Amino acid sequence: MKRTIIITGGAGFIGSHVVRLFVNKYPDYHIINVDKLTYAGNLANLKDVEDKPNYTFVKADICDFDTIYALMQREHVDGIIHLAAESHVDRSIKDPFTFARTNVMGTLSMLQAAKLYWESLPERYEGKRFYHISTDEVYGALEMTHPEGIEPPFTTKASSGNHLAYGEAFFTEDLKYQPHSPYSAAKASSDHFVRAYHDTYGLPTVVTNCSNNYGPYQFPEKLIPLFINNIRNRKPLPVYGKGENVRDWLYVEDHARAIDLIFHEGAVNETYNIGGFNEWKNIDIIRVLIRTVDRLLGRPEGADMDLITFVTDRAGHDLRYAIDSSKLQRELGWEPTLQFEEGIEKTVRWYLDNQAWLDNVTSGDYQNYYEQMYKNR
Ligand code: NAD
Ligand code: DAU
Repeated sequence: MKRTIIITGGAGFIGSHVVRLFVNKYPDYHIINVDKLTYAGNLANLKDVEDKPNYTFVKADICDFDTIYALMQREHVDGIIHLAAESHVDRSIKDPFTFARTNVMGTLSMLQAAKLYWESLPERYEGKRFYHISTDEVYGALEMTHPEGIEPPFTTKASSGNHLAYGEAFFTEDLKYQPHSPYSAAKASSDHFVRAYHDTYGLPTVVTNCSNNYGPYQFPEKLIPLFINNIRNRKPLPVYGKGENVRDWLYVEDHARAIDLIFHEGAVNETYNIGGFNEWKNIDIIRVLIRTVDRLLGRPEGADMDLITFVTDRAGHDLRYAIDSSKLQRELGWEPTLQFEEGIEKTVRWYLDNQAWLDNVTSGDYQNYYEQMYKNR
């Protein structure tokens, strides 16, 4: 079946993996990557697919309703996978307005364009889909009732080397939203708008809430690529608080596979949590990163442990995230495929092998370019 799908935020970290998967797997689909190219958007992430005949890039702001609506009409778009967002919690603490604009108003603009265009067609919503990508952070923070760790209720391929949970409670789809940061508050608000468009207008929506992703092409402001780059350059590693906060990590290609499955087979108006039952304290991950980078660079393993520098904690820092993804496994058969330490090894290798990519996005030119854009928004 031929389809025309807009993927928003396709030049970012997760979006670029989703675009690559769809362009390669579905030669009959026309994939339109709509991205504003903020500091986080980088077309170098898509070099390997940019010449494919079923791929188009459109530089546009999702908040620009007229442009999005005209694009949908012109290209007869029948599916939307919406990833574009401001995604970094620390930035949201400094500049909440930008997060409200993009994550809330941008999502509303996408929803309204889809509604108006699809309602104008004879078949209306038949065969259409609006898929909104959200985060586990909307659920707030979980308690750490077992700081030493206990056996998790499920193990997956992702968690097979780890086997620890730090509390009995997990994020399930029916939990009430309790966002704490401006980022998660804006994402929560966008999730509510998506559900409101289903309930009010019948828009065929689906929402997923995923845990922390890691892998190639992540902007080096986020923990894993930032620390790999700093270890390589022997720069201090700024660990917030005591490094005891827990995150639940999933390899980005496993997330992209889940998005593919849910876009095609997820039920309308459903929510699915995505994660690999793979909880880690930050400090433990940081030690794995140091050992891995040291080994791959031929340094004595662990030689760079002294780069660990405890710094002032992030304001409102959520203590523990842990996703229960058993619904997705039960209903659609999704499971992660990559074990975490293998994924970390693969990821560290990628950043070390793609130093030019890292150097470009951390260079003065790139920084000036995005700082300028950031200031002018
Ligand atoms: P990212 O910051 O790497 O990429 C965001 C992309 O959106 C960039 O290409 C950027 O240019 C684009 N963008 C930003 N504002 C835009 C606008 N106004 N118009 C058009 N494009 C715009 O983000 P990511 O980490 O890849 O996250 C993608 C999505 O997945 C986000 O919605 C995020 O909330 C969600 N998510 C991320 C994670 C994670 O661990 N990174 C986990 C769960 C959910
Ligand atoms: O849970 C999903 C979320 O994961 C996504 O919705 C967000 O878009 C994504 O950025 C990520 O949010 P986090 O805040 O968890 O990711 P970050 O990489 O910024 O931080 C991971 C943990 O590491 C967190 O506990 C804060 C800590 N940290 C982070 C940085 C950047 C440090 O200790 N030092 C640092 O310098």
